[in-house]
Amino acid sequence: MVTQINVANLAFWMLFRIISNPETLKLVRSEIEGRVKRENGMNMVKVDHQYLMRHCPVLKGCFFEALRLHSEPWSVRKLEKDIKVVEKSGELVLLKAGQYLTVPHTVYHLDPENFQDPYHFNAKRFISREENEKLNAQRGIMNPFGVGFSKCKGIAIAEAECVSFVACLLATLDLRLVDKTWRLPASQRTTGVTSPVIDCRVFGKLRNIQDTH
Ligand code: HEM
Repeated sequence: MVTQINVANLAFWMLFRIISNPETLKLVRSEIEGRVKRENGMNMVKVDHQYLMRHCPVLKGCFFEALRLHSEPWSVRKLEKDIKVVEKSGELVLLKAGQYLTVPHTVYHLDPENFQDPYHFNAKRFISREENEKLNAQRGIMNPFGVGFSKCKGIAIAEAECVSFVACLLATLDLRLVDKTWRLPASQRTTGVTSPVIDCRVFGKLRNIQDTH
């Protein structure tokens, strides 16, 4: 699988958050049960990412929650005309044409006014019941891929790759940390999803999965 660094980093955080919480791991495994299959007896697996995004709300919710907590998206724009911005305090700020405006979406993603207990990873935070009574996870007011004209062009690829990769790993392997305790590693900034500053060494034991035929 060819991937982009933001997706690889996000897959790490998503996996770490799921595996380090037995209840979340159990919920995700039950959603993907029977959906990752061995390709005709070979050492390859097959998964339908559209199914995962439509029918696995906890897995999809973990994707959004990992994005909320571990990405640091910015939108940078050059102003074509003067604009006035009103601060929360009521102060009026004039931004001049030609200046650059930087919007750090993370501030919004970690604001307790928008997300209750914002530093807590909550696998069910983005899940709601749709009109047809089906549970689904929706990104809602979060902007991890930026906004407007220059919004990320790789959203569909990022979702498909990350969610499929995590589902395949969880379905095929039981992962256990070498040093036994799942302590969240510190992270360092990148231009998108942060990366862990240390390696997490794991033991992996193969699980039995169904064949496609
Ligand atoms: C988890 C994965 C990813 C995250 C969090 C992410 C995030 C972002 C963000 C925040 C921006 C800036 C948006 C703005 O200016 O408002 C951006 C731009 C962009 N991203 Fe991504 N991205 C991801 C994956 C990808 C992938 C997989 C691709 C391509 C295959 C991609 C292609 C692009 C391109 C081409 C732009 C520039 C868009 C433009 O200026 O018109 N991204 N991304």
